[in-house]
Amino acid sequence: MCGIVGYIGYDDSKEILLKGLEKLEYRGYDSAGIAVMSKEDVYISKVKGRIAQLREAVDGNVHATLGIGHTRWATHGPPSQENAHPHQSKSGRFSIVHNGVIENYLEVRDEYLSGIELKSQTDTEIVVQLIEVLYNEMNDVSAAFRKAVELLKGSYAIALIDAEDAETIYIAKNKSPLLVGLGDGFNVVASDSMAMLQVTDQYLELMDKETVLLRRERVEIQKLDGTVVEREPFTAELNESDIEKGTYPHFMLKEIDEQPLVLRRIIQEYQDENNEIKLDPDVRQAMKDCDRIYIIAAGTSYHAGLIGKQFLEKFAQIPVEVHVASEFSYNMPLLSEKPLFVYISQSGETADSRAVLVQTKELGHPALTITNVPGSTLSREADYTLHLHAGPEIAVASTKAYTAQMAVLAILGVDTANAKGIELDFDPMQELAIVANAMEAMADQKDVFEDLAREFLATTRNCFFIGRSIDYYVGIEGALKLKEISYIQAEGFAGGELKHGTIALIEEGTPVIALATQAGVNDSIRGNVQEVIARGANACVISMKGLDKSGDSFVLPQVHEILTPIVSVLPLQLISYYAALHRNCDVDKPRNLAKSVTVE
Ligand code: AGP
Repeated sequence: MCGIVGYIGYDDSKEILLKGLEKLEYRGYDSAGIAVMSKEDVYISKVKGRIAQLREAVDGNVHATLGIGHTRWATHGPPSQENAHPHQSKSGRFSIVHNGVIENYLEVRDEYLSGIELKSQTDTEIVVQLIEVLYNEMNDVSAAFRKAVELLKGSYAIALIDAEDAETIYIAKNKSPLLVGLGDGFNVVASDSMAMLQVTDQYLELMDKETVLLRRERVEIQKLDGTVVEREPFTAELNESDIEKGTYPHFMLKEIDEQPLVLRRIIQEYQDENNEIKLDPDVRQAMKDCDRIYIIAAGTSYHAGLIGKQFLEKFAQIPVEVHVASEFSYNMPLLSEKPLFVYISQSGETADSRAVLVQTKELGHPALTITNVPGSTLSREADYTLHLHAGPEIAVASTKAYTAQMAVLAILGVDTANAKGIELDFDPMQELAIVANAMEAMADQKDVFEDLAREFLATTRNCFFIGRSIDYYVGIEGALKLKEISYIQAEGFAGGELKHGTIALIEEGTPVIALATQAGVNDSIRGNVQEVIARGANACVISMKGLDKSGDSFVLPQVHEILTPIVSVLPLQLISYYAALHRNCDVDKPRNLAKSVTVE
């Protein structure tokens, strides 16, 4: 979603900001802008559209050594140049960029800003106007900034510059991610370390309700009451090559191809020298102690949770409920006596999941986060974290994080079974290694999936995915992948549910992608395939070796039956990828979507 960068140093800030914003493009945005300052002149450029357009719009002659930049994903007010950040105060003295949502912006406007004509429809402009109003009363920018931040309710990551002070960027954070990057003769701020890896790998973490005075040679973190906070920097684990496409045309294809590697890395990270599962003993204990697990997640991570439930129930014999994060608070189930909340999130920043975490922490329930970003908000705020080790996932459509989530959940299930003394005839590391090999074999047959995408999806308006048992969950993930990047209207259904309504949608040529990887339901899903064919559907069957029948479109290499979702999703990812390509869609940055969804 929205992204922030800021730089103060001696080099041309414009170029550093634009490069930083380019690195944030993957998060999803609809407009962008920068404000840079030299010799107390502020220059602002904003566009509705891509960073490439912003680059063209920016005056190349401006040389400034301090600046802030932003990518906006519209919440308050449509995408437009007026609503793009930075926003300025009435006099033009203060310029601000902001991520998050100010919940009390209308109250603030009514109480403090009467008589001020607003130029945008954003909650952000309210903040910068408020800062100026308070400054006019207090005559101290730093105090006015802290006072304004104190009045705000909601989530924010803010960077502010003052046209009369070329030595400071003012920063504040609450619930939205923001990091300070440290350099030699410069300092930076960014909502994501990826934006500033070009200049530094040394970062300072910021806590909620902290403010920062960012100067060329000095960084001062303060609490809202002005108390100074000392904090040690950390070194970013990423390096620039981790976030480059290399020879791949798209990040999504690169990330699909990385999946076998990620699985092997997970095996390595979760195995000790005696080939036993290596897991944080506190996580093990929490799993042993609970009487029910509540998985909370959104989108693809929710789909991984549905598969995870199978692993945890079948291996560890713990009852599991899986909930869509955004719905949980409205319909909180009756909780068991000793619940354990498991938050699954690639980014670790999903606001819907975090809202539930805040709620369940208040109720005093333990929380485990399974994430690809260990320092993320969900990771910091939960009691325990399991890392996915998938490496940065840049494409908006999640692929390698999803398969990593399932792999880690399988390991967690088996580890808990071991801890509880449940005997299993299943070696997760050996079986995952077989899965990694199977994935590799499939990734080498991309032309097959390109052909399938052309044959079934080149011109269609819609597409259905069907499966039974765990294939059903993989089907809904396949449908999500297809719709998010190709904009084909796609839905996943349980094979048995078709006749209860959905079959009415099947007409001549409707593509139906069926998964047939489970021995126990092979006959029934085949029956469903016949039902849709009889009504004119164009059926593409993806089956597992040993269960295949003549005419199947693709036969997956055989893996342990319970782990098939980690393999069977790969063809669906690739088919979606090629369908999107055939339709000239922007695969890595689909319209309206954001990589990390930081608003509720
Ligand atoms: C996946 O392809 C999607 N882009 C989306 O559904 C995503 O999985 C969801 O927003 C949850 O994100 P998280 O895993 O970072 O919490």
